[in-house]
Amino acid sequence: MIKAAILGFGVVGCGVYEVLKQNSSQIKTKCEAGIEIKYILDIRKFPGAEYEDKVTDDFAVIENDPEIKIVIETIGGAGAAYDFTRRALERGKHVVTSNKELVATHGYELLSLAEEKNVNYLFEASVGGGIPIIRPIIQCLSANEITEIIGILNGTTNYILTMMINAGMSFEQALELAKSNGYAERNPASDIEGVDAGRKIAILASLASGHHIYPEQVVCEGIMEITLDDVRYAAEAGMVIKLLGRYKKLDGGKICVYVAPHLIGQESMLSGVSGVFNGIIVRGNAVGEVMFYGRGAGDMPTASAVVADVIDAARHIDKTKNKRLWGEGGAFTQDSKVLRQRYYIRAEGAANPAGEPSDAERLFGRLEVISGGTGGMSVFITEEMDGCEFEKALDEYKKSAMVLSCMRVLG
Ligand code: HSE
Repeated sequence: MIKAAILGFGVVGCGVYEVLKQNSSQIKTKCEAGIEIKYILDIRKFPGAEYEDKVTDDFAVIENDPEIKIVIETIGGAGAAYDFTRRALERGKHVVTSNKELVATHGYELLSLAEEKNVNYLFEASVGGGIPIIRPIIQCLSANEITEIIGILNGTTNYILTMMINAGMSFEQALELAKSNGYAERNPASDIEGVDAGRKIAILASLASGHHIYPEQVVCEGIMEITLDDVRYAAEAGMVIKLLGRYKKLDGGKICVYVAPHLIGQESMLSGVSGVFNGIIVRGNAVGEVMFYGRGAGDMPTASAVVADVIDAARHIDKTKNKRLWGEGGAFTQDSKVLRQRYYIRAEGAANPAGEPSDAERLFGRLEVISGGTGGMSVFITEEMDGCEFEKALDEYKKSAMVLSCMRVLG
């Protein structure tokens, strides 16, 4: 039996234990030796649980046990998880993680350390929950130059937006449900502020570009400002609102990486990605467009990806699999304002955008009017413009109208 330890017995840690137990005979067909959880690191004791005798609150016990070959880090964050991961790798143990914050922040350093120690640092579960996306990019799409990645990368916010769209639920009610389903982060601010999706697109951008893209290089907008009015107006235009993470390679080699809510039309495959599901479109210069879809959060889907990595580590117990996934970070990103996009605007007190000629038309070009009325609510979509042109026009428009909401439009 290959012995492993789980660090952190929260939603994902419990799921990992459960999948290893439930699917043990199936797992043995892929890893003959079998995988046994020898320790569970947690500050809680779990009296009466079947795994009670495996629980320890002392990482040194795991670190110093030469029998432990694989450490499964499901603590989250970049504090204790960083320290334990470094120490485990230093001791020549493979580390498998679902921790996007740690990979996005210290991935280059930890991958280099793993390579130096001839072990693996595997993180399939860090992006897209149960969806295979890291390995497909590393392996199946490796012949391509990845030109764009665009995806719904956060299950909690997609669940909230879906409940607002389909059930007319308020933002707060939907967030409570997401928390009780185990989708949200311990601090759900990182979900709703777009930070979690930012870490995930940073990881995908690192893989696609070959350079470590740090979370600080990703500008993130969340969904806190989105109201039921926006959701309804989007529906009137035949669109839905989705929080998207985007990586785009520009001519000249620089890249844009950002997270923001977008209106998307029904022709986009992402428009049908609902609830806790994530959807990720990858564009490669040989393959064209491919899409990955599945449950992006929750105990069992995330555990599915973690356990797959554990099996992979067990099958490559004597070597490093993924050498030099990406290089050091640097000034590789450019402000996403360079991208030309259309924008959705909801404003009050403006002249009718459908009128002749209106301020809105003068400033934003030919409009797609969703709702208009002199002095009332004006809701419209602008012509395609770059971010600087849009900001300038918006500042001017604000002199005659109270802008309640604005958002990017995809495509
Ligand atoms: N809070 C995250 C989400 C968990 O909702 O997507 C999975 O990374």
